[in-house]
Amino acid sequence: MIKKIAVLTSGGDSPGMNAAIRSIVRTSCNNNIKVLGVLDGYLGLCKNRIIKLNKKSVSNIINKGGTFLGTARYKKFYKKKTREIAILNMKNKKIDALIAIGGNGTYIGANKLNKMNFPCISIPGTIDNDIFGTDYTIGYSTALETVVQLIDKLRDTSCSHKRITIIEIMGRNCGDLTLFSSIAGGCQYIIIPEIPYNEKKLIKKIKKNVKKEKKNILIGITEHICNVKKLAKKIEKEVNQETRATVLGHIQRGGAPVAFDRILASKMGYFSVKLLLKKKFGKCIGIKNNKIIYNDINYAFNFIKKKYDKKIIFLAKNLF
Ligand code: F6P
Repeated sequence: MIKKIAVLTSGGDSPGMNAAIRSIVRTSCNNNIKVLGVLDGYLGLCKNRIIKLNKKSVSNIINKGGTFLGTARYKKFYKKKTREIAILNMKNKKIDALIAIGGNGTYIGANKLNKMNFPCISIPGTIDNDIFGTDYTIGYSTALETVVQLIDKLRDTSCSHKRITIIEIMGRNCGDLTLFSSIAGGCQYIIIPEIPYNEKKLIKKIKKNVKKEKKNILIGITEHICNVKKLAKKIEKEVNQETRATVLGHIQRGGAPVAFDRILASKMGYFSVKLLLKKKFGKCIGIKNNKIIYNDINYAFNFIKKKYDKKIIFLAKNLF
């Protein structure tokens, strides 16, 4: 029987993580399960940074960005010996199961603990929306709104100066945040990791576009594809038009979660506790076609990349 569980957040924080913790804590309390919070992700699990939580400890956090439990990227967790310490710490505190909220790295950690016979469930929390087996991750919708607002601001100055503006957007290897924010922000060019990038072709197209008159152009590009500052210099030289590049950076991860993320987090948190009560371990939670679902955590690793919707790319190209 599940009597005591722990919850942690790990990897890059995302808006809505607090709402998920709140939902887990309140659902646990309402089902007579004791709940502990692990500070600073898997790092805190190994360092025994574990605190008691109750309904009151999660008051007034539903609207807060970040994660009040703290988070960390902790590479040492890949080592079996480190995980053994984590398991020992949990056993000493009589913890029966762990709910881990985070991205791919968090899933890998939860999967490994599970394989060592410690029951885990993972909830997708990342702005990248790059987790297989869910249409949306907690935090993605908030980040999308944030990025669109930032693109709008860059449009103002880009338009005043008739500049070409390159906007580097987070997402790691997933283009969702770039693609959808660029459509909503009206970018003329969208460069995402799922589609091969050809610098020469891009510059040729821009040249053609600005041939008749100098006009502002917005380019949305996912991080890690190229050095955007160098790209800006090259475009400026070859197209003969002022060009600037802005790396949006960590501002994309902050802020109050939008309603969608709060609701998604609340649903997923509730669902995860209910799964534990049914003794369904080693699962990851997702949302598919507006329905909360679960799969084996292994399933999330079946495909390295999420499939992207080709119709959306077609739409994006047709808007210009
Ligand atoms: O996974 C979320 C994310 O914000 C990615 O979009 C980005 O590549 C990465 O984290 C940045 O990581 P860090 O906060 O460790 O610099």
